[in-house]
Amino acid sequence: MANHELSFTPQEALSSTPKTPEKIGGNFVGKDIISLKQFDKDSINTLFKVVPKMKDIYRAVESSDILEGTRVVSIFFEPSTRTRGTFEAAITQLGGQFMGIDQPKEFSSMAKGEDFEDSMLFYEMFGDAIIIRHPDVGAAQRAADVVRVPVINAGDGIGEHPTQALLDLYTIKENAGKLGGLTGLMAGDIKNGRTVHSLLDGLSLYPDNTIYLLSPDLLKLEPQKLNEWRKKGLKIEEIENQSDIPKDADFWYWTRVQRERFKGEEEYKAVKNQFVLNEALVEEKAGTKTIFMHPMPRVGEIDKGVDRDPRAVYLTSQPRNGIYTRMALMALVLGRIRPY
Ligand code: NCD
Repeated sequence: MANHELSFTPQEALSSTPKTPEKIGGNFVGKDIISLKQFDKDSINTLFKVVPKMKDIYRAVESSDILEGTRVVSIFFEPSTRTRGTFEAAITQLGGQFMGIDQPKEFSSMAKGEDFEDSMLFYEMFGDAIIIRHPDVGAAQRAADVVRVPVINAGDGIGEHPTQALLDLYTIKENAGKLGGLTGLMAGDIKNGRTVHSLLDGLSLYPDNTIYLLSPDLLKLEPQKLNEWRKKGLKIEEIENQSDIPKDADFWYWTRVQRERFKGEEEYKAVKNQFVLNEALVEEKAGTKTIFMHPMPRVGEIDKGVDRDPRAVYLTSQPRNGIYTRMALMALVLGRIRPY
């Protein structure tokens, strides 16, 4: 090791080193779910085998006691409709208790200056698991480093959104019947879209996937990240025009330009809605089996005229799968269902 001066004490170095979340390796019990990089194909399969059972439970009139006696706290530092709503639906449908803390920087003692770690240690008292959404990359891992219960990352800044990727992969598999040998298109904010990053992680586990990335220059992936996925075997083609979209792809995954990640409104306005999914584009490029996905919310990048197309799943099976996959995940992480 080079003999250079340390600018921090070893103790500080230790506490600032981000821990790597444990691999799932087929066993979900007690694990933090921070990144899709924790998953292998078998673990995804294990989860997906539980999902249809959860779908049945959700649609049945009777409620379930799978999560009876468990308490889950969700702490959302950023707004959410689907992620927070489907987690709450998932946990309460399985008989668990759900405590939702929203906007803690405004409404909790964090507004008085309490730090993140102290707040997490307090919330830990109420939960057998903590679900967290935060604007900073790495925040979920920071929470996991201080609490002893499993932490589920519901989105950390421009980092990751693993549970969204799981429901997206499930939706793709439900329609294409497979997760390898696919051609997909991802459009919009590829640089800042955490759902895109986690989905690319997921798709890179399977062979022969080709993903076209359609985005303005400013919203392209950093070359280093792009290369990481390419090294894993994912074929990635960056395109700049809608005319370069391949015909008959298996899925289109449209995304919102992430306004809250921009420094100024002008910069945002210059790149927003450069690419819009509309009926003309569907007519020109979609195949009979192409599904149209979006993690939502949309803010103009999908024309409402597309909503009734049976290939549009962003208002139907895609968000519903969010409930079922999150039910399955929570039941597995809390050790209330055996993987079979
Ligand atoms: C996304 C998110 O929050 O990352 N939404 C979601 O969780 N379904 C996408 C977005 O906000 O654009």
